[in-house]
Amino acid sequence: MTLETESTVQPLAGQEENAVRPAPQSVGNPTPSITGASKLTEIIVVTSGKGGVGKTTTSASLACGLAQRGKKVAVIDFDIGLRNLDLIMGCERRVVYDFVNVINGDCTLKQALIKDKRIETLYILAASQTRDKDALHAEGVRRVFDELIADGFDYIICDSPAGIEKGAHLAMYYADRAIVVVNPEVSSVRDSDRILGLLASKTARAEKGESKVKEHLLLTRYSPRRVANGEMMSVDDVKEILGVDVIGVIPESQDVLSASNAGTPVILNAESDVAQAYEDAVRRLLGEEVPLRFLQEPKRGFFARMFGG
Ligand SMILES: Nc1ncnc2c1ncn2[C@@H]1O[C@H](COP(=O)(O)OP(=O)(O)OP(=O)(O)O)[C@@H](O)[C@H]1O
Ligand SMILES: [Mg+2]
Repeated sequence: MTLETESTVQPLAGQEENAVRPAPQSVGNPTPSITGASKLTEIIVVTSGKGGVGKTTTSASLACGLAQRGKKVAVIDFDIGLRNLDLIMGCERRVVYDFVNVINGDCTLKQALIKDKRIETLYILAASQTRDKDALHAEGVRRVFDELIADGFDYIICDSPAGIEKGAHLAMYYADRAIVVVNPEVSSVRDSDRILGLLASKTARAEKGESKVKEHLLLTRYSPRRVANGEMMSVDDVKEILGVDVIGVIPESQDVLSASNAGTPVILNAESDVAQAYEDAVRRLLGEEVPLRFLQEPKRGFFARMFGG
């Protein structure tokens, strides 16, 4: 593999020791690396047009789910100025250096990567709190990705900021695959359509005329009751309007807030429907055929129906 970064890149240990790892497992077909060489790392952007739809919640859970299956995963917060991923991952007190520090050469990538305490193969790179939106630039992002690729990461998950500004553009620029997070309501669906347009035109793959970024929709905050009442769009409605396959449907649940308050990605709360729905999405990401669940309202018991429980 020829990489623009020198071959002297050291194995990354994260902010804890003991992380010199064996070569990674192959994940599907090699795709061309951002520097043109063959690579086994897949870069996934978690994006949306509208803000506050569940991107960070999704990035954290998918990263955990993949890492729990033995994949070596780095999850990166692209939301410059609004750090959030570290809170949801529960590592905010361990952030010493961030993404912009690495790009500026204030520290090494190894120093900035935070090794998750729960899952051996999971690493987090926090967003910078700087107000300087130019601190993140394509060349710097590419250098960081090249180093992660050289170190054998299987997945790089990019948690995009909302909107279509620079941060969101950079988060998607080098993506091999995109997960477009959408709430089943008109404004979110309309903004997702704009993002799908950008994925088709403003990414490195589009500019180089390479094969398209693989696109998936992930519906979150789905409430079968509200769909039945006509207050929310159904999965089929959203799929039909956007014309993209659905990789997951995540129910609306209080469990998400409880998990983020506890600094535990919700996928780790095995009893929760939300966790199971994210697990299903991870399996689909890995190529398994898994039917969609949680599309119907749970059947209510006799007492609940009689007394409105
Ligand atoms: N399935 C869900 N059920 C209930 N609440 C949810 C669900 N998913 C996300 N939320 C809530 O929605 C809010 C936004 O979630 P999150 O921060 O993940 O969105 P985001 O798209 O990353 O936002 P931003 O655009 O600001 O980065 C949070 O309060 C979160 O707890
Ligand atoms: Mg976010």
